This record gives sequence, structure tokens and C-alpha cells, in this order.
Amino acid sequence: MAYRWTNDLSPKDVTPQEVFFNRRKFMAGAVGLGAIGAASGAAAQDLVPNSLEDITSYNNFYEFGTGKGDPAKNAGAMITSPWSIKVDGLVDNPGEYSVEDLLAGLDIEERIYRFRCVEAWSMVVPWNGVELADILNRAGVQAGGKYVAFETVMQPETMVGVRRGVLDFPYVEGLRMDEAMHPLTMLATGIYGEPLANQSGAPIRLVVPWKYGFKSIKSIVRITVTDQEPATTWNKINAREYGFYSNVNPEVDHPRWSQGSERMIGGGLFASRQDTLMFNGYDEVASLYEGMDLRENF
Ligand code: MTE
Repeated sequence: MAYRWTNDLSPKDVTPQEVFFNRRKFMAGAVGLGAIGAASGAAAQDLVPNSLEDITSYNNFYEFGTGKGDPAKNAGAMITSPWSIKVDGLVDNPGEYSVEDLLAGLDIEERIYRFRCVEAWSMVVPWNGVELADILNRAGVQAGGKYVAFETVMQPETMVGVRRGVLDFPYVEGLRMDEAMHPLTMLATGIYGEPLANQSGAPIRLVVPWKYGFKSIKSIVRITVTDQEPATTWNKINAREYGFYSNVNPEVDHPRWSQGSERMIGGGLFASRQDTLMFNGYDEVASLYEGMDLRENF
């Protein structure tokens, strides 16, 4: 895409009643405005995105090492083109799709979302991408499809963390079908109008803004619709610390630290801690969990 967000609207231009930053970019080149989702308190706040430098230099991508600077240092060698994604399981149109075919004809939108890592740091990221629901609807979810499972590429030759076996790779994640279909849930292909940097999960990664960041699996090569709750990487490592749901919840602490507040990455004048909000401020998802004990289903 040949535009840079920084030269265009800023979050200050968004009228307060509107949801959050909601400019839509159309593939054809036309520019329009459209709101998605319902207005929600925190999400409607002025979100000032982190710099591209922050977003691409402080990362978790264990395939490239466990240090925050390792992905930026090591991910450059990852081969991201050509890239294909296997869509399988309980769908009408299974297949191996190139990322271009998967996205063909869909509007690439820009959305500024808050991003909250389970480690209690946060950023604000201007993503470009599509709603996961659009991809799932094209795939044709069958009646028995209750969950969606995701898998990250395995490239041991380019991935030092995979060679060292720092986790049980491939990295896998999953969502319940209603979470996957929620309009806030994105497959992102860019940040600030530029294709995703490798360390950010090129060429395509999940973004689920009301859940801890580890749900937002990077560099996806497989999307499977299933009738079983899928295994997820961090839950396999430590089920007591990392649940399947992993909704941002300031009232349910991590066994080893508080989730009540977060450190905003970005330094300078605005460096501070802030209170963590239920569902990371995306109140419109609360209805998905009505009647569930969120302490048990953490
Ligand atoms: N996806 C893969 N494949 N491997 C990972 O190690 N880390 C997760 C998530 N997705 C991870 C991943 C975690 S813990 C977080 S907080 C986010 O990616 C970090 O995304 P960011 O580096 O773009 O901020």
C-alpha cells in the first residue's frame, strides 16, 4: 500500500463518538470512513500509536530467540515469499492458498488497537489487515466447527529458537468460533501501512485485541476449523499460568505477578504505568463470556 498513516489522519482527528480509529482503506485505492463494532469506553480514548521503531524492536517471537531484541536481530532471514496457508478441517473449501489468494478482493483496513502482553507491558499498534471472519466465511465453516486452530511456520534453517528447541514448536494457538468471528479479530498483514516486518509476524498474523498478546500468533501457515478446543503453546507449557481464553483481566492475576496495571512501552515524556482494563478496554466482547466464570476460564 502506498500510503503512510503518519502523513494522513491522526487519532486526534477521530470524532469522540466514534469507536476508535476507523478509517478504511479500499484495495481499489478509494478512501472511505466506516465504523466497526460498538463504541467502548477505553477503546474510544485517543489512542496514540507507538512508533514503528518501538513496535518492531521490542518483540516476542520465540522462534527467533527469547530476548525482546532477538526477533529484530534474527528474523530477517525468514523466508516470507512465496507463502501459503493451509485451510482445513470442518470447512467447505479446504485447500492450500497463497496469501495473495487468501486476501484477494478483501478490503485492507487500518485499525489502531491496544495490545497488552501477559507480561504486563502494552503498546498501541496501527494494524492493517482483514477481519478473520471474512476468511472463515469464504472457507465456509461447517455446522460442527466450534473452534479455530492456528499454526506458525517452521523454518529451522532460519529460526535459531527452533533449532535450540526453546519451546515445543510449531507455535500453535486457538480461538472459540464466536471469538474468531468477532469483528474485532483481525488477520494483520501490515503496520503503519507497511507490510509486516518479519519480527512482527510476516506475512500474516492474528490480532485479538482483548486477549493477552500470546494469543496473537505470528507467521501463520495453517488455519484449521475443528470441533475440539485446540491445544495452545503456552497452555501446554504451563496450564496453571496460561489458560485457553487468556482474556485481559485486571482482576485475575498471573500466579507470579499482578495483572492490575501495565507498563506502556515507548519511553520519553509519556512513559508511565496505567491501569489495565477488563478485556483491554474492548467492552463489546463481554457478551461472549456471559455466564462464564472468568476466574476458572482464565
Ligand atoms: N507467535 C509465535 N509464532 N511465536 C511467539 O513466540 N509470541 C506471542 C505472540 N505471537 C509469539 C507469537 C507473544 S508472547 C506476544 S506478546 C506477541 O506475539 C508479541 O507480538 P509483537 O512482538 O508483535 O508485539
